[in-house]
Amino acid sequence: MNITIFGMGYVGIVSAACLLRDGHTVTGVDPNEAKVRDLNAGRTPIQEPGVAELLAAGHASGRLTATATTPPGLGNCDMAWICVGTPSRPDGGVNTQQVERCIREIGTALREARTRPLLVARSTVPPGTVRNCLIPALEQTSGLRVGRDLHVVFHPEFLREGCAVDDFDHPPKIVVGEAHPGAADPLLKLYERYTAPRFRVGLEVAEMVKYSDNLFHAVKVVFANEIGALARAVGADARQVAEIFCSDTKLNINPYYLRPGFAFGGSCLPKDLRAMLRLAQQQSIRVPLFEATAESNRVRIEELVERVLSYRPARVGMVGLAFKPRTDDMRESPYVAVAKRLIGEGIELRIYDPGVDTRRLLGSNQAAVQTALGHLERLLVASLDELAQCELILVNHPTVTAECVAGWLKSGLRVIDLVGMPGLGPPAPSGYEGIAW
Ligand SMILES: NC(=O)c1ccc[n+]([C@@H]2O[C@H](COP(=O)([O-])OP(=O)(O)OC[C@H]3O[C@@H](n4cnc5c(N)ncnc54)[C@H](O)[C@@H]3O)[C@@H](O)[C@H]2O)c1
Repeated sequence: MNITIFGMGYVGIVSAACLLRDGHTVTGVDPNEAKVRDLNAGRTPIQEPGVAELLAAGHASGRLTATATTPPGLGNCDMAWICVGTPSRPDGGVNTQQVERCIREIGTALREARTRPLLVARSTVPPGTVRNCLIPALEQTSGLRVGRDLHVVFHPEFLREGCAVDDFDHPPKIVVGEAHPGAADPLLKLYERYTAPRFRVGLEVAEMVKYSDNLFHAVKVVFANEIGALARAVGADARQVAEIFCSDTKLNINPYYLRPGFAFGGSCLPKDLRAMLRLAQQQSIRVPLFEATAESNRVRIEELVERVLSYRPARVGMVGLAFKPRTDDMRESPYVAVAKRLIGEGIELRIYDPGVDTRRLLGSNQAAVQTALGHLERLLVASLDELAQCELILVNHPTVTAECVAGWLKSGLRVIDLVGMPGLGPPAPSGYEGIAW
């Protein structure tokens, strides 16, 4: 394939090197003359293991050229990859100038092109940029219609500098966001021999995936360092603690606790978080991530209450009150906190939780719920049918069927789904909304 790559930085050059190795012909475009000179001499402008050899071999075979200006007609390429920089602005936002200028140059060059290449945006951009900014700029400058005359995809890059060639060759996943179904076909063909899970999704999901990954990595580093600081303060070897933590693939290193949903609660997480915050305070250790964790959890509860109140319902139903299904433990249940707030706002509440029997509550569980919800027995209903007279229902536990929820929606009720019930879209039925979808 004949591939033009815009932006000969770390991403563009590693991609060029690996695509040359795979037998493709590459034209590198970059306004930086020094980089262009290096590439045209078969030298690498960046230090990255394996890249120098691959570029030299590609250059020797005559399949690598570089230019400081956009080739006329885009060099009649089959595909153009956009790997230009997207640095931070002083306010923290993304400076998309390079990528906007690049797409405009591509659009102008396409006016004289004999081919209609697939445009592959690889630069990390805020969700919505490709649809709302790049595609309109491309259509305006080229006079072409995306989806009819040519296609644009967003294809996030996951390589890490220092082992970028290996990451390119063994990607953790191949993600392509399509503006139109089928747009990614030529790109996925190029990856035929690569073994990695493939995800064809909408543009915004692909754009968001990249940020989701990088924010998770940042949070992981900070988490490990804050645990390290606490461990050191109490004389525990942080490396050993981390080793044992990482060995647990049942609860720790796995997808549990990583799906969007509602606030955490229960008898352990809030209590143990408080304990470590107190310890940090006593030891004069700063753990801003853990402090923010408690605050973030409170914010989620408050946001849900505000969302419910915005509909001004007189009567609200809840499916589930215990901190999770299949238990009657209501200690620090976030749903108890929501219930308490709604009652405080004068809302009539009906709660269905077959796991909770007020006559059988004992000890700290009984004490906790009595303090928060004095007359719980008057709030509890024995069947889901009794929620049908409410105007709005919160599904806190997945203990109700999609058919039942669909019935409520049909009769005009609003349902807020906190658990991601299967069988309810997309597209979402009228009156349905998810906590984060
Ligand atoms: N570096 C990484 O490890 C990495 C990994 C994944 C994703 N990304 C993302 O990939 C993108 C590129 O990152 P990078 O580190 O390779 O950037 P970089 O700053 O190293 O390189 C960008 C290059 O683009 C060139 N450029 C600017 N405008 C141009 C134009 N109109 N036409 C052609 N070239 C132009 C610049 O001269 C520069 O050489 C960024 O959005 C980044 O967030 C980077």
